[in-house]
Amino acid sequence: MEDILDIMRRRHSVRRYKNVAVEKELADALRAEAETVNRESGLNVRLFVDEPEAFKAAKPHYGSFSGCRNYFVIEGPENMAEQAGYYGERLVLYAQRLGLNTCWVALTYERSKVTAEKGNEIYVVIALGYGENEGVQHRSKPYEKLIKAEGDVPEWFKRGAEGAMLAPTAINQQQFRIELLPDKSVRIKSLPGPCRYIDYGIVKYHFEAAAGKDNFKWAD
Ligand SMILES: Cc1cc2nc3c(=O)[nH]c(=O)nc-3n(C[C@H](O)[C@H](O)[C@H](O)COP(=O)(O)O)c2cc1C
Repeated sequence: MEDILDIMRRRHSVRRYKNVAVEKELADALRAEAETVNRESGLNVRLFVDEPEAFKAAKPHYGSFSGCRNYFVIEGPENMAEQAGYYGERLVLYAQRLGLNTCWVALTYERSKVTAEKGNEIYVVIALGYGENEGVQHRSKPYEKLIKAEGDVPEWFKRGAEGAMLAPTAINQQQFRIELLPDKSVRIKSLPGPCRYIDYGIVKYHFEAAAGKDNFKWAD
C-alpha cells in the first residue's frame, strides 16, 4: 500500500473538474468508506454523485469551481466540528488514494441546494472528482513556527510533523502548533481562525496517520 505521506504530498485542493460522474466502482468504495466513518464517528456523511447543482453558479473570485458533479456533505449533530475535520480528511485521503481529487468547501458552494437531514448541522462539503489538474502545493509557514521539538526527535514525530504541515486548512491559515513534550507525548494547539475546529480535526488526522497511531500518545 502506498505510504500515506506520499498521498498527502500528492493531495492539493482542486477546483476545476472534468464534468462527469465518478465511476460506479469508485462511488461504491467511497460510499462504503463513508458508512464506516458514520458508524465510528456519529456523523452523517453523504455522498452525492452526478449532482451538479451544489457547484453550479460561477463565483467570481476565490473559491470558484467548474465541472464539479460529485461531493460529500459532512453533517451531524451539533458540536462535532473537530470530528467533521478528522473523519472528512480520512475520506479526502481515501479518495486521493483512489486517484480522485478533492477540495474542502465551507463557503463557496450553493448552500441553498444542500439541505441537512434530521435536523443535523452541515459542517462542510468536500468537492470530489477527476481534476483538470492536480492543484499546487500550498505555501507553508516555516517548520519552526508550527512545530516545537527539542533534543532527540523520533522518526515518527518527524513524519507526523510533515503530515501536519501538508494538511489543508481554511484559507491556508495553518492556525495550529504542535509540540513534542519531554515524555514524548504530543500536544496540538489550535489558535483562533476560520473553521478553527474543523482545521484542528484535519491537522490531527494528518499527524496521527503520518506518525502512526500506535507510535505515540496525545498529551491530555
Ligand atoms: C475547513 C476548510 C474550508 C475550506 N473552504 C473553502 C471554500 O469555501 N472555498 C474554496 O475554494 N476552498 C476552501 N478550502 C480550501 C483551502 O483554501 C485550501 O485547503 C488551502 O488553501 C490549502 O491548500 P491545499 O488544500 O491545496 O493544500 C477550505 C479548506 C478547509 C480545510
